[in-house]
Amino acid sequence: MSSPVVFPFKSNILLDRKSSRHLYLQLCDQIIGYIKSGKIAPSTKLPGSRKLSEDLSIHRKTVIATYDELMSQGWIESIPARGTFVSKDLPIISPKKLKETSTIDSLKNTSGFEFRKRHHLVRKGIETIQASLKIDDGVPDHRLAPIEDIAKIYRNITKKTYHQHLLNYGDTYGNIELRRALVIYLNQTRGLKITEDNVLITRGSQMGIYLASQLLLNDRKTIIAGNTNYMTADNTFTEAGGIIKRVSVDEYGMNTQEIESICKQQPIHAVYVTSHHHHPTTVTLSAERRMHLLDIAHKYNLAIVEDDYDYDFHYNNAPILPLASNDHHGNVVYIGGFTKIIAPALRIGYFIAPKDMIDEAARLRRILDRQGDTLLEQTLARMIHNGDVQRHSNKVRRIYKARRDLFCTLLREKLGDFFDFKTPKGGMAVWVQLKKPYHWDIVIAEALKQDIAFNPEWRRYDNDNSGHNGIRIGFAALNEKEIIAFIDKMILVMKIIKVKPTE
Ligand SMILES: Cc1ncc(COP(=O)(O)O)c(C=O)c1O
Repeated sequence: MSSPVVFPFKSNILLDRKSSRHLYLQLCDQIIGYIKSGKIAPSTKLPGSRKLSEDLSIHRKTVIATYDELMSQGWIESIPARGTFVSKDLPIISPKKLKETSTIDSLKNTSGFEFRKRHHLVRKGIETIQASLKIDDGVPDHRLAPIEDIAKIYRNITKKTYHQHLLNYGDTYGNIELRRALVIYLNQTRGLKITEDNVLITRGSQMGIYLASQLLLNDRKTIIAGNTNYMTADNTFTEAGGIIKRVSVDEYGMNTQEIESICKQQPIHAVYVTSHHHHPTTVTLSAERRMHLLDIAHKYNLAIVEDDYDYDFHYNNAPILPLASNDHHGNVVYIGGFTKIIAPALRIGYFIAPKDMIDEAARLRRILDRQGDTLLEQTLARMIHNGDVQRHSNKVRRIYKARRDLFCTLLREKLGDFFDFKTPKGGMAVWVQLKKPYHWDIVIAEALKQDIAFNPEWRRYDNDNSGHNGIRIGFAALNEKEIIAFIDKMILVMKIIKVKPTE
């Protein structure tokens, strides 16, 4: 192999200013050439954009455009606070040929200005993977959504002239009919004791998590979360400037003794808890720990951010009432929504808290999203009033229970040698650990060959690197035929991997 490229690139890069090819594309071509030829090895640190632009006597924006293009093609990666590196895992397929692009065209892809980029929020996701069966981590089956009912009511509302005002700017807190309907619905079904002053309508639970984080976690305040935890919530806390402290999670949920010990040692502002079914492991927070957590919150003046994302799906017995139903001192911010009962695209959720917090959350929400979809909110209010939501929730609960039972029975019978799991009492996913010496990376790669896509970011809930070998497998969005197809293909996958388990 010829000698490696020495940084700075000055003497290695030749840019032709007279060429019709834009400078940043010339620079891309040459860096890719060096990477492909092995002259620049994987993981090599690249010079900063300022340094390289000075070395090559070109504008810094040209270098930034080059790095962005290389990053989007997967040749290089940016590691926050460390710099830009040649990717460890280089693209397997050769990159699409950079087309001859005019300066005007290139502007469409590359901004001529700097802006803040959040590389830590880049997600690989499963969307772009081609496979006939995609395995999610527990989402509802959108095919069951009562779309006809929704459309009928929506149409009806828009027809009535006295509803015309709903097309205007409205209340940042959300449609008043829906807020009132929610007061009755949540007080009846979850034992809350709220009035409409305690309700802010959001666009799904995620907006609630965001608002709570922004209000609670400024100035590097600390929030306690489980190890492991729902990654998007973790990202939202960090984005708000908060620090996350972890406590362990066992079969009774988050360890509240650990929470109290931390509270004794340092100021804590909040605890994030998915009490009904811990995300990702699906366990329910025990009654004893619920009481303990509420005591801790009162004693140390902290907020409990209770994310009750899948309250409606509990199969073995009645759902357990949320912490919010026992909150006598205004410590709980209760977050939920209709995205799981009805459909993820129906972006309606609620943020329930003491009035002073609701008022502040509404002010903050106003600068992000002036108001929600008032007509859809009105539609949902009607659906709650006339019992459609409850009927639909009962219907899908029965379907998901049957799917959970089939999925867990087959997984245990046919693949029990490879996987450890407990049948979840509720929710839409099973937490499945691979037995030693199997590894999800290998299983996922082989599964893809059999046309089954798992999310390549299966470790995403392990933000503290505990090194578990677990994955959430969603069963709710798979019908009977799909569950059987999944199990059959996984039997094949495990046969191909052909390693005998040691335990
Ligand atoms: C634990 C948890 N919280 C919140 C959300 C966000 O839900 P929504 O779609 O209502 O924003 C999800 C979505 O999957 C979730 O799993």
